Amino acid sequence: MLKHNIYLLGFMGSGKSHWGKAMAHELGAPFLDLDAFIEEKEASSIRTIFEQKGEAYFRMVEATCLRETAKLEEPTIIALGGGTPCFHDNMTWLKNRGTSIFLDPPLAVLIQQLEKGMAHRPLLLGMDKEALKEFISQKMTERRPFYEQATIKISNTNTLIPLVKMMQKRNTLLLLHGALGSQKQLNEIQTLLTKDFDVRTLNFTGHGGKAFGDAPFSIDLFTEDVLAYMEENNLEQVDIFGYSMGGYVALNLARLHPNKVGKIVTLATKFAWSPSTASKEVKMLNPVTIEAKVPAFAKALAARHQPEDWKVHLEKTATMMLELGNGKALLKQDFSKIQHKVLVGIGAKDKMVSVEESQEIAEVLTNGTLLVFENFPHPIEKVDRTILTQEIVKFLKE
Ligand code: S3P
Repeated sequence: MLKHNIYLLGFMGSGKSHWGKAMAHELGAPFLDLDAFIEEKEASSIRTIFEQKGEAYFRMVEATCLRETAKLEEPTIIALGGGTPCFHDNMTWLKNRGTSIFLDPPLAVLIQQLEKGMAHRPLLLGMDKEALKEFISQKMTERRPFYEQATIKISNTNTLIPLVKMMQKRNTLLLLHGALGSQKQLNEIQTLLTKDFDVRTLNFTGHGGKAFGDAPFSIDLFTEDVLAYMEENNLEQVDIFGYSMGGYVALNLARLHPNKVGKIVTLATKFAWSPSTASKEVKMLNPVTIEAKVPAFAKALAARHQPEDWKVHLEKTATMMLELGNGKALLKQDFSKIQHKVLVGIGAKDKMVSVEESQEIAEVLTNGTLLVFENFPHPIEKVDRTILTQEIVKFLKE
């Protein structure tokens, strides 16, 4: 049985269905063709859906059907449509639901395959060979940035099945973002770690486009988000890398549900919460000041959390931090009960979190180790991702 879904993606004619079926046969797993699934749901052919309801409608149904693949009874090999990864944030969604594989054969192979099956592909109707070539190269340029985000890319399909068998053996590593962040900020780290782990990210409630809901922001709410994600994705246990607040959530999860967590790496997590440290943090969360002094940051926050309002987001974060300062934070005795191996990472140039507070917690933890990164400041965007991921791999694999 597979550990999780495998999503095959790539241009029309790249062999997604052919190789998907071959792989399913070889690995004894079920196979699903997303186009066929859509046709069944809509009781209509892809060509008719395009003709009668238009592409925008098709893309909406496609995104909905894709998300239904998270609920299949058994982990499945799924061949996507050529355009699936490029609409409705589908790529971010699917790469956090299993292994994604980009089939990238040479152009000549694509042309040869597509010349055969043009009649049922609405986007190719009526094209001659020259038009087809032009279409492929233009669309490929548009789509490559999406395809390239896949866990692995394969040009020679002979290597596909052994590689998938190997990929299935990787442990799952969950990356948790910080208080003002979102899963997309961890994209590059996710890519760098994908050779060694089945790397997943998620958005906490109210972050990165996920709705606020009714509950106020809290570490317990975000811990519930992780549990829900693990449940939905049939993940029994995960290692975790948590950046800033994400590290705090990871430790809280380990404390409350020790069996759900393997090893933990934190970076730049604030541990010293008191009324005065909280109010210092909260001063930096004033939207009026941010707009006036760092307008680019204001814009980035607005884009990151839309459709939710970034100003409300800051307000909710500030309330949570004040509560942490007012007795909601974990106590030393809480940390001391955690038995997991934890690497507590901190940048020597971090102005928000001190080496001292990190060291204190590393010592209180039963199996804690401190790691000081000489040149790292606080923002994740400014740390050397290569050095960081090397240390994560070293610690998690030792
Ligand atoms: C499309 C590819 C098709 C199908 C639809 C749109 C695309 O799937 O989803 O015609 O935008 O590239 P295949 O890649 O399986 O042909």
